[in-house]
Amino acid sequence: MPNIAVLTSGGDSPGMNAAVVSVARTAASLDMPLIGIKRGYNGLINTEGKWEDNFVNLDLNTVLDIADLPGTYLRTARCDEFRQHEYRVIAANKLREMDVAGLVVIGGNGSFAGAQYLCELGIPCIGIPGTIDNDLPYTEMTLGYDTAVNTCVDAVRAIRATSRSHDRPHVVEVMGRDCGDIALSTAAATGAEILIVPEVKWSVDEVADKLNRQLQKGNPRATVVIAEGAWNSMEPFDVYSFLKPYGKQVFEGEPMTSNRLASVLKRKCGMAEVRSTVVGYTQRGTTPTARDSMFAFEAGYIAVNLLRKGIGNQVIGMKNGKLFHMPINEALAVKPEFDLRTFNIINAL
Ligand code: F6P
Repeated sequence: MPNIAVLTSGGDSPGMNAAVVSVARTAASLDMPLIGIKRGYNGLINTEGKWEDNFVNLDLNTVLDIADLPGTYLRTARCDEFRQHEYRVIAANKLREMDVAGLVVIGGNGSFAGAQYLCELGIPCIGIPGTIDNDLPYTEMTLGYDTAVNTCVDAVRAIRATSRSHDRPHVVEVMGRDCGDIALSTAAATGAEILIVPEVKWSVDEVADKLNRQLQKGNPRATVVIAEGAWNSMEPFDVYSFLKPYGKQVFEGEPMTSNRLASVLKRKCGMAEVRSTVVGYTQRGTTPTARDSMFAFEAGYIAVNLLRKGIGNQVIGMKNGKLFHMPINEALAVKPEFDLRTFNIINAL
């Protein structure tokens, strides 16, 4: 049987290890030797040094205890060189030299674009959508998204408890790059009163008005959930001119942040305090939920079986809860559709 290989690429996401375990178990059951590539595509192009620096034989013993390990055992990286054709050729040649007949790429859209290039160079690749961002619209769920949402939900619930104790509002920033899905699901699951996402333009004044309306309705402890990408959909606001007179540490030209938005809202709404929290990397470095692990196990199985049949240039996704596969270029061309209806329900008041 020829070798197959697997790598994780881009930002780590919960469930990547479970997918690697599934690929390893399926490969072992089919007697296909499996090579793990370290640090994403980097492991294929910077191959000086010892073989073990960049590769690992993934037998059943190697992956015995990693299924529910947070992070990625294979390590990961974003590989800028892969934008250049010459490096893709180096990678394809390296795979051929190692007698690799197919590669499983676990990562997001940039990683999938890399997989597509390798397919064009004759290396069959199968993509598993590993990213917390849920920004691959061809699939209703990416691997790691469910865990990231649940991490944010736990964080917001804890924050709402302390907000309730002190009767003060709170701004909570969550990840998601240009996609507001993590923020949307988090807000819906926690009863947050104000939601700000990259997909919908917004202004600081409008958010201050909403917060004021909450105060007038007798709620002095509303939660504002903001997606990190929403700083790009904010109407221009001169945070320096607004906060400087209050003696806040802000320099001209510096961007708006959650902390500064909380400071601005405090003043615009005449509150004693408005606090802020950035949930950050806890969303990525968390043990995968059972839902993510199920997705990972099924996707790994499908990926290896496709490669065994000589099928490449596919990505695996989920539709109505069932896994399917489709060509990489078609998947990457699917346009995002944000759930405006739920967004409007959350922001109704
Ligand atoms: O793509 C996952 C993600 O966590 C995004 O939500 C975030 O914008 C980005 O990665 C952060 O990347 P880095 O790991 O380079 O800081």
